[in-house]
Amino acid sequence: MRRTAVVAALATASLAFPWNTFDGPGFPACRDVSAVYHPTTVDEIVSIVKNVSATGAPIRASGVGHMWYDTMCADDSRTVIIQTNGTAGIGNFTFDKAKNEGSVVVEAGVTFFELADYLHAHNASIGFSLVNWNITLGGAISMCAHRSSLLEHSTVSGAVLGLDIVVANGTIVSLTKEEHGTTDEWYAAVCNLGLLGVTARAKLRVIGEFKIQANQKILDEDDVINGDINALIAPYPTANFWWWPGQKKFHHRFYQLVNSTQEGFQSTFSVSAFEGNTGKALLEGGSTSTFVAATAEWTFFTIWGAPNFHDKNTDLPILFWPVSGWSQDNLIGGLYPGTKPEWEYGLRGKTMELAFPMTQANKMFKRVRELLDAAAAAGSPIVSTYRSGINIKFAKTFDAFMAQSSSLGDSATAEAYKSGAIMLDWPTYLPDSGIRYNEPFYANLSATLLKEFPDARPHWTKNTREIYKSAVPNMDPKILARFKAVRQSFDPNNTFKSVLGQTLGISD
Ligand SMILES: Cc1cc2nc3c(=O)[nH]c(=O)nc-3n(C[C@H](O)[C@H](O)[C@H](O)COP(=O)(O)OP(=O)(O)OC[C@H]3O[C@@H](n4cnc5c(N)ncnc54)[C@H](O)[C@@H]3O)c2cc1C
Ligand SMILES: *[C@@H]1O[C@H](CO)[C@@H](O)[C@H](O)[C@H]1NC(C)=O
Ligand SMILES: *[C@@H]1O[C@H](CO)[C@@H](O)[C@H](O)[C@H]1NC(C)=O
Ligand SMILES: *[C@@H]1O[C@H](CO)[C@@H](O)[C@H](O)[C@H]1NC(C)=O
Ligand SMILES: *[C@@H]1O[C@H](CO)[C@@H](O)[C@H](O)[C@H]1NC(C)=O
Ligand SMILES: *[C@@H]1O[C@H](CO)[C@@H](O)[C@H](O)[C@H]1NC(C)=O
Ligand SMILES: *[C@@H]1O[C@H](CO)[C@@H](O)[C@H](O)[C@H]1NC(C)=O
Ligand SMILES: *[C@@H]1O[C@H](CO)[C@@H](O)[C@H](O)[C@H]1NC(C)=O
Ligand SMILES: *[C@@H]1O[C@H](CO)[C@@H](O)[C@H](O)[C@H]1NC(C)=O
Ligand SMILES: *[C@@H]1O[C@H](CO)[C@@H](O)[C@H](O)[C@H]1NC(C)=O
Repeated sequence: MRRTAVVAALATASLAFPWNTFDGPGFPACRDVSAVYHPTTVDEIVSIVKNVSATGAPIRASGVGHMWYDTMCADDSRTVIIQTNGTAGIGNFTFDKAKNEGSVVVEAGVTFFELADYLHAHNASIGFSLVNWNITLGGAISMCAHRSSLLEHSTVSGAVLGLDIVVANGTIVSLTKEEHGTTDEWYAAVCNLGLLGVTARAKLRVIGEFKIQANQKILDEDDVINGDINALIAPYPTANFWWWPGQKKFHHRFYQLVNSTQEGFQSTFSVSAFEGNTGKALLEGGSTSTFVAATAEWTFFTIWGAPNFHDKNTDLPILFWPVSGWSQDNLIGGLYPGTKPEWEYGLRGKTMELAFPMTQANKMFKRVRELLDAAAAAGSPIVSTYRSGINIKFAKTFDAFMAQSSSLGDSATAEAYKSGAIMLDWPTYLPDSGIRYNEPFYANLSATLLKEFPDARPHWTKNTREIYKSAVPNMDPKILARFKAVRQSFDPNNTFKSVLGQTLGISD
């Protein structure tokens, strides 16, 4: 069977096809690949890597495609995808009651909700090092995904105690924080962009399960962009803003530890068929009409004021703030029964995410407001075209070569990130025409911010090829060189190359 799989891979090498993101056909993560494998064990990943790399074909691991642009692979039609979501073992759980912490080992394809279920049954939690529900730990760790906190490590890799990486020659390279935590190998491996090999296993720090209370307030735009942003975010184990530029308002979401019997369950993405169809009609209309776009933003803003939570046991909507629940349920949750995420109703999106040092947070907001005002003055007012607005997240300093909030190196940028990071994560509705409401604004926005804020750094799965190109001057060449040296030792033949790595000059 396995041999047939490899033969099939070779035989179809000339029949290239795209490998899509979660948005499906028309949204390639890789433009051309030749084969896709679905291993169920780490041993099988080793065997596939060994066999495929011997043919000289490039390889990329993929979880569930929860990324936005065609930057996963290199443009090489021989590329082979190893889809990891079937390699999903969880085990070797340890817990020290006195210290209230322990560890667990996950395989590449374990998703956050699979891990949360397992840990909850063991009275434990991944804490604040989590992103979203249907994303693999291998994908989140490799690409340095993060939640939003200045108080706690909310970069997923912040929980990593050890990693097993399958490198091109079919060896498993094991690194531990204890032994390698201050080496270049570690700083490259914990946010490896998939360029060292397949992130096959991770040992993660866990803490005792806890309950957390979500609260939300509405703030005037001026009180944020000219306000003490640190004071609004830093006290909480997780907190963020959603910006509604047409309303000149922010939602301020913040969480605190609590004892409570309530069992709230959050959903950002659950949409009923009625909501999906209505939302789509409104946003399609808004793609060519300022009036409809503004009405859509006002509607989403109003709906977003109510808790996006149900009771976990009864599935009844929870109507009032604050809302308490178990850690992962209340911080992330998942889908309510009978609902689907919006992309399954044909609502597509684009996004853009840049990080800035916390010390530049007010300056960044004021500059974006100027760009918004300039667009309005030119007759094209900008509003949010996404059901949860523009997401503003934060990250405590996390040291890894490719972490958005890293302070590694001796550059002024590294120094600035000792204050933590603010992230501008700007999702937009992509209409069927493919041309967004006020389309020209967006390329100008990212280009302007990258140029005027030389410390700005992109998220590694939420930006276009053009943005990565524009971001190269913002990266510290010495840090890129140190990453590249590790990459060359792990992957001398460039088997795991990607467009992203090539753009940054760290893969060939
Ligand atoms: C609805 C939604 C919400 C999101 N929310 C957040 C958020 O709050 N914060 C945030 O930071 N990000 C967020 N993301 C982005 C997401 O965390 C990353 O794109 C993540 O990498 C996706 O993981 P995946 O398992 O789907 O991997 P894929 O999308 O399949 O792959 C993403 C990249 O990781 C590489 N990769 C995947 N698995 C491995 C592996 N085992 N070893 C080596 N390389 C690998 C792939 O080659 C590719 O380059 C969100 C995405 C979506 C769709
Ligand atoms: C790799 O090749 C070896 C030797 O031909 C074969 O036994 C094995 O099944 C192959 N592995 C996979 C995953 O195809
Ligand atoms: C997770 O995402 C994958 C890929 O988009 C999809 O096939 C699967 O149904 C999703 N799972 C859940 C529980 O939503
Ligand atoms: C993996 O994800 C794909 C969608 O990308 C889905 O079709 C498949 O069922 C998933 N496999 C497992 C084992 O979850
Ligand atoms: C747990 O450890 C054992 C022995 O080292 C190993 O065989 C097993 O695969 C590990 N579990 C996971 C999920 O890695
Ligand atoms: C989890 O905690 C509950 C309540 O304290 C206890 O009854 C249960 O045995 C614990 N479960 C595990 C796996 O430790
Ligand atoms: C690199 O390629 C050379 C030549 O094709 C091959 O002999 C060698 O085994 C490869 N090394 C790895 C790590 O894949
Ligand atoms: C919850 O209750 C326990 C036991 O009474 C107490 O130790 C803990 O501090 C309380 N936690 C919070 C957040 O109030
Ligand atoms: C953005 O748009 C403005 C006004 O149209 C223009 O003057 C400026 O050069 C543009 N900036 C970039 C970086 O493209
Ligand atoms: C495989 O590559 C790793 C990483 O470079 C190296 O440590 C190991 O010695 C290599 N193994 C073989 C058998 O070449």
